[in-house]
Amino acid sequence: MRFLYEKTQPELFSISPVPKTGQSTLVSRQNPLKKRAKAFSFVAWTYLYPVHVQSNPRHKPSPPVYHLLKPLLFALPPETAHKFSMRLLSPRLAGLWNRAINHDSRLQREVFGLNFPNPVGLAAGFDKEAAHLNTLAAMGFGFLEFGTVTPRPQAGNPRPRLFRLPKDKALINRMGFNNAGLEAFAKKLAARKTQNLNCIIGGNIGKNKTTPNEEALRDYALCFEKLFPHVDYFVVNVSSPNTPGLRALQQKKPLSKLLKGLQELNNTHIQPKPLLLKISPDLNRSQLDDVLQIAFDHQLSGLIATNTTISRENLGSTPQQKIKTIGAGGLSGAPLKQRSTEIIRYLHRESKGQLPIIGSGGILHPQDALEKLEAGASLIQIFTGLIYQGPALIAQINKALLKNK
Ligand SMILES: Cc1cc2nc3c(=O)[nH]c(=O)nc-3n(C[C@H](O)[C@H](O)[C@H](O)COP(=O)(O)O)c2cc1C
Repeated sequence: MRFLYEKTQPELFSISPVPKTGQSTLVSRQNPLKKRAKAFSFVAWTYLYPVHVQSNPRHKPSPPVYHLLKPLLFALPPETAHKFSMRLLSPRLAGLWNRAINHDSRLQREVFGLNFPNPVGLAAGFDKEAAHLNTLAAMGFGFLEFGTVTPRPQAGNPRPRLFRLPKDKALINRMGFNNAGLEAFAKKLAARKTQNLNCIIGGNIGKNKTTPNEEALRDYALCFEKLFPHVDYFVVNVSSPNTPGLRALQQKKPLSKLLKGLQELNNTHIQPKPLLLKISPDLNRSQLDDVLQIAFDHQLSGLIATNTTISRENLGSTPQQKIKTIGAGGLSGAPLKQRSTEIIRYLHRESKGQLPIIGSGGILHPQDALEKLEAGASLIQIFTGLIYQGPALIAQINKALLKNK
């Protein structure tokens, strides 16, 4: 807590000019009692407020809690802020943002044979290790997609690898599938069985960086088999720009081989599970046509459109120098919105609405979600919007959906 105060209110702290102990010590210019009382009331409020909300059914919509915390979080490096906030959040605290509206029966929809309590999901990459299953479920999402998981643990790219572009409401990341590996992932998901969560769980699977593309099927198959008892649907991720060569698996021949192999495995089970493909927004029309053909050939249950882009278009408010300094990575958030919606519209039209689409890319406001659904998406996912707008976005979208009915 003190660390946060130091970052955001440096004027409260200074290095004592003559430290008694001979070491530099941090001392406050404020009365220490006053400072402690302030810190105590902040912590007490953060923990007691949700109890108050939950025990008071007549409580009106929560105050903009996230917008109070955001300056503190944004003062930290993005990856640290993400870890810190997820550690700070308990399921009870996360429930603070979960409004009754998320559970309104009019929001329920059946897509690829699964019953979603509402159409707002968490996109992959937010929790790559399924470490915060209960907390995220408590926020009111209709579905959570965990991963991308790879068979063996891997560290990902060197830091820094996640960057905020606040003026454009965007992120650039080159995480590189950092994750604790399949064993740990499956263990976390196995715990779910005992918990009776009211949301659908997706498993987003990938391959290790060191696995050559020719052997990719083995990695995906390992993930598929291990996770089969623990997830409701699968997503094959071949569209991340941060694993060298991965996106080449989106080409016709390797993609067909991969999906054929996975569907063969799927069909060895008495009740096969929905298998989806997540695609890049950087595919051209003819590549999108190939994807559709392959999706039908291999009886995929749906597509996720889209992953992050390697394009740097629509970054009107971020200085070019900053963009250059950041370097390689996938761009998400507002600049991606239009492209991903165009792709959804195209896929929906060309498939004659026969292939369910999960819309992902640049949903920062309820209106953005409505646009994706109007373009043909059956469900939507958020990631960057959660960073910029906070978990209240889930209920805001659901509220807009009900209003639009
Ligand atoms: C930091 C970060 C990590 C991501 N990691 C993954 C991942 O591991 N697997 C994946 O399929 N998508 C990953 N994504 C892509 C998101 O799931 C999402 O499709 C994309 O960011 C577009 O949505 P948004 O604009 O709402 O963020 C990641 C995105 C970000 C920002």
